Parts: sequence; structure tokens; C-alpha cells
Amino acid sequence: MDHFLYRNGILHAEDVPLPQIAEQVGTPFYVYSCATLTRHYRLFEEALAGLDHLVCFAMKSNSNQAVIAHLAGLGAGMDVVSGGEYLRAKAAGVPGERIVFSGVGKTRDEMHMALTGGIRQFNVESEPELLALSEVASALGVTAPITVRVNPDVDAKTHEKIATGKSENKFGIPIAKAPAVYAMAAKLPGIEVVGIDVHIGSQLTDLEPFRLAYEKVRDLTLHLRAEGHDIRRLDLGGGLGIPYERNNSAPPLPTEYGALIRDVFQDLDVEVEIEPGRLISGNAGLLVSSVIYVKEGEGRDFLILDAAMNDLVRPAMYGAWHDIVPVVEPAPGQDQRPYDVVGPVCETGDTFAKQRQMPPVSPGDLVAFRSAGAYGAVMASEYNTRPLIPEVLVKDDHMAVIRARPTFDEIINRDTVPSWV
Ligand code: LLP
Repeated sequence: MDHFLYRNGILHAEDVPLPQIAEQVGTPFYVYSCATLTRHYRLFEEALAGLDHLVCFAMKSNSNQAVIAHLAGLGAGMDVVSGGEYLRAKAAGVPGERIVFSGVGKTRDEMHMALTGGIRQFNVESEPELLALSEVASALGVTAPITVRVNPDVDAKTHEKIATGKSENKFGIPIAKAPAVYAMAAKLPGIEVVGIDVHIGSQLTDLEPFRLAYEKVRDLTLHLRAEGHDIRRLDLGGGLGIPYERNNSAPPLPTEYGALIRDVFQDLDVEVEIEPGRLISGNAGLLVSSVIYVKEGEGRDFLILDAAMNDLVRPAMYGAWHDIVPVVEPAPGQDQRPYDVVGPVCETGDTFAKQRQMPPVSPGDLVAFRSAGAYGAVMASEYNTRPLIPEVLVKDDHMAVIRARPTFDEIINRDTVPSWV
């Protein structure tokens, strides 16, 4: 459920009509709903109630500081994967003890930054990373709390580009090697083992792969404890999927996911962390765009929008589906017709949808892409020198521009032309 509903025939973000936002900031733009962010965050809180837990929002899905500050205000921790995300979290007021640091390629500079700024734990993904962290922490005279991310070799049954838990993927260390890596970690200066980490992929629409992975983590917990390691915290990653096609999909709910976690880990006396991104931010955002032209092609009509693949790359990159709806509510029983929905970028991949059934639309009309709050703005680029589009946050009848559209001057002046050119 989200808070983007038609009222009096106009799509609203909470209490704010989308055409009002379009008027103020121009199109295209992203708009996020505080109530929806809150709702989805709380679903996880409720799902894990009774367990010692921390919900760490995966900032990679949406790292606008206003979004981060809102979630942090509800009690969320953050999962960061770069020094930049770490600094954004800190700038949004998240205390270091609520930030976990994930990622296969943490640099020494990033380790230094997090160790001096405060960090809950590093989720270490390899032996070389462990050695580097030990060196950086020792040089600073501090101790780095760590989990080791294990790769359980489980098929997450999701798009191959976002599956991370198979042995051929670059993530984590093979679970069979874990005891040796933990033995190594226990002897290293500047390292304190606090737990185990696992994350098997994103947009999972089936709980079974989670169960398989979590049972392996459970077994490993018992094994490592028997070997004397203090495994007191389990980071179970993110990945729970969302319904991109409203009328056609119903992934498991956070309550069912929470019940699974309880089932596998309840008796272990551990603190549980999860790192959901998409389920919290995905349906809390829309991308709103205007129709520039409707072009009659050979046997098909093209809906040419002012948004393009550089603004929302998921369809081009993963063949992903986003529901696209007109901002003016179609009359009940309104005829639909097929459109190829495309952007103005000069490549055929700049296609949002092919032969999508939609009510007839005309130039100037506004359309909204649903489920665009996760992996939307954060993956945008300035390809074709198209400015990054504004982001707007709505709460009840308040709206605020939380990232303004840059001017062309700002973009162009970032380049420098050396005198010898
Ligand atoms: N934790 C780790 C270590 C991750 O790598 C990810 C996502 C998450 C948590 C959050 O997963 P979520 O709950 O959002 O599924 N750009 C792709 C998704 C990439 C996901 C990468 N890792 C997309 O647009 O579908």
C-alpha cells in the first residue's frame, strides 16, 4: 500500500496534487511520500518485534538526506556501501553506532573514515579486506567490530544481475571457508568479531531462498560459537521484493519474512539486523513525467516522454517493469491502447515499456511511474547532458524540494578545458 491515490480524479502524493508539484518544479521529477516510507519501515519493525533487532535501511536504494533523516528519526540504522554514503548518513544525523558498512571493495580511506567517525560494524567480504582493516584499525589504535559476509551458494531466484548469493558471484566468502577466516580474524590485531553477515540478492519474491541461506547461517553460528567465537549479532541482509505489477504479483509480506527469521533464529539469543532497501523506499516514490509527443510509427504508437533512461535506468538495465499511470484518472471503462513508452535519449534501449496498454494520452499530459522510489534517482546520470531531475518530499499537505534541478551552467561549468587543447 502506498499514499499515491486519485482524489477528485487527480493523482496525489498524500494530500498534494501532482500537477501542483509539476507546476512548481517542472517535469520530470521524483516525489516521495513520508507516510509510505514510515509505513514500510514500521512493517519491518513490527515483523521483528520481540527480537533484539535493528533495521538498517539500504541507502543505495535511495540516499537523499531528507529520506535518510526521516527514516533515522523513526529509529532506523543505515547500511552504507561507500564513503560517500557514510558521509551522507552522518550528514543526515545518523549516529555511527547505527551505521553498518557493506561492500566488496572498501578502501583504506573509507575504513579510516568510518573508524574515526564511528561505525557499528564492517561487513567484511574477503581475507585481503580483513588484513587491510586490521592494519588501518591498528594504526589508529582502535578496534574494528566486524562480521564476515558469507556466501551460502543459494539461488535467490531473481534477476541474474542482482543475485548475490551464488558461489560464482563476487560477494562474501564461501561459507565452507568461514571457520578458517574467523580463526584468522580472531588472531588479528584491531579486529573484534561480533557476528555473521549474509545477503543473497534483491527483489526476492519467494521466501525459500532466504530460508535456505538462513539455515546455513544458523548452523555456522552454532559451529563458530563451539569454536569459541562470540557470535552475538547476525546481519541477514536485505532483498525482500515488492509488487511492481500491481495487478499481477504479490511477493511475501514483511510479517511472513519476520516469522521466518523468528523461526530460524529465535532460540539463538542473537541480535538481528536486516538491510531492506527496496521494500522501504520502492513504493514510496513516483517518477512523474510529461508527454512530449505521441508519434505514429510503423504499426505502433510511441509515447515520447520528457523522462528517459538516464532518469530511471531499471527498464533499460534489467528489463524491469514499472506501472505507468496517467495523472488524470481515466474514466471507468475507458478504452486502453498499446504504446511503446520511450524517452528522448538517442538509443533504442531508452524504452520504458513496449506495447503497454494505457488509456489514450496527449502531449502535455502527466504520467507517473510507480515503484520508482528505490534504485531510481540514485542510479540516474546526466547522459545526453540531461540534468539530474529534482526530488520532492511530501508529508500530508507539505511539500519540499529535497534536491533541486541543477542549472545547465552548473553542469557545464564542472568541466575544465586545459589551455593546451
Ligand atoms: N544489503 C546489501 C549488502 C545489498 O547489496 C543490497 C542490495 C541490499 C542490502 C538491499 O537490497 P534490497 O532490500 O533493496 O533488495 N539496482 C538494482 C538493485 C541492486 C541491489 C543491490 N544490493 C535494481 O534496481 O533492481
